[in-house]
Amino acid sequence: MPRSIVAGNWKMNTTLETAARLAAGVAAGAGSVGGVELILCPPFVSLAAVRDAVSGSRVEVGAQNMHHEGSGAFTGEVSAEMLAGLCQYVILGHSERRQLFGETDESVNLKVRAALLAGLRPIVCVGETLEQREAGDAADVVEGQVLAGLTDVTDISDLVVAYEPVWAIGTGRAATPEIAQEIMGGAILDALRDLFGDAGEEVPLLYGGSVNAGNAGAFAEQANIHGGLVGGASLQADQFLEVAAAVVEAKG
Ligand code: PGA
Repeated sequence: MPRSIVAGNWKMNTTLETAARLAAGVAAGAGSVGGVELILCPPFVSLAAVRDAVSGSRVEVGAQNMHHEGSGAFTGEVSAEMLAGLCQYVILGHSERRQLFGETDESVNLKVRAALLAGLRPIVCVGETLEQREAGDAADVVEGQVLAGLTDVTDISDLVVAYEPVWAIGTGRAATPEIAQEIMGGAILDALRDLFGDAGEEVPLLYGGSVNAGNAGAFAEQANIHGGLVGGASLQADQFLEVAAAVVEAKG
């Protein structure tokens, strides 16, 4: 059984000061939520402050993106090597990156491999759009994203996959636990087994898209959902910790 994880994707929110305060709030309450890995993913500029704010606690830190090259003439970009000294995780292929910044399965794959080489643990995001779901293509789209995004990846002990249906992100319209389970225990697990055999079953799978303290437990009760990738509800320490507590209870 893969480990339980709750990760907070702060997106382009918080300042240096509010990020440190939010992280300190999560760190202060983390001791009361055992049995689940807690990861905070602030904007790049706040990674060091968040790392410092959670030091001495069991809270871990992640970035929200990175470039696949190690260094060079890529103005405005940040490499895996730069992140490796600041955080343990990196979110890759988030649907906002795919939709707004032109990321493709191929670029996500380059990033995943670069992250793993640098010792970062990638949280690889996949998910279909509303149009794709309505056309009956959700499972094929997601399976294709996993297969392409993880091509030539060999060591999966550090890998996490997040299923985030695009229509459920930031909309308040979460998928149902049954819809999420169908994709995660179906298309995603099938792709992971295809790529990695039985070892694929050990990859933690997170659901994301309008997760909150009220619905997190119902998602985590599903057999192939091991936690959540939380956007809006991760911007308040108490809400984030309540999501984590709900996951622990469901998995307990
Ligand atoms: P949301 O975002 O929880 O605000 O829907 C989730 C995400 O995009 O990771």
